Amino acid sequence: MIGRINHVGVATPSIAEAVKLYRDVLGATEFTEPRTLAEFGVTVVFVTLPNAQVELLEPYGDTSVIADFLAKNPRGGQHHLCFEVEDIYAARDELVGKGATVLNEPRIGAHGTPVIFVHPRDMGGVLVELMQTPKDA
Ligand code: CO
Repeated sequence: MIGRINHVGVATPSIAEAVKLYRDVLGATEFTEPRTLAEFGVTVVFVTLPNAQVELLEPYGDTSVIADFLAKNPRGGQHHLCFEVEDIYAARDELVGKGATVLNEPRIGAHGTPVIFVHPRDMGGVLVELMQTPKDA
């Protein structure tokens, strides 16, 4: 059911610091402009690599989806893995049918297509994001 890895989500207390790391230490050259997704309580920058992206997530506002994670991991860390699927509703129904806990109704994510998150307890300890493949990809 899952397709390619779209991105790896990395939570950080400071996108500016994280961008420095990926640019100056790791040598990445392609970054998106910072964008705030108020509904998720995050500001994101994507680092574009040849085969996938890294999503840098900084908390925004009082009810960030990464607030608990950063409370436990103050310096930041790997937060989720995002796989592409062809049809987010079919994927959601299939996972629910197999007993997985889907955490949200499909909603528009950072790439403009619907996403869902699946609870880590059903995913081997990894928070999994499924994202409908963009039409122009
Ligand atoms: Co993501």
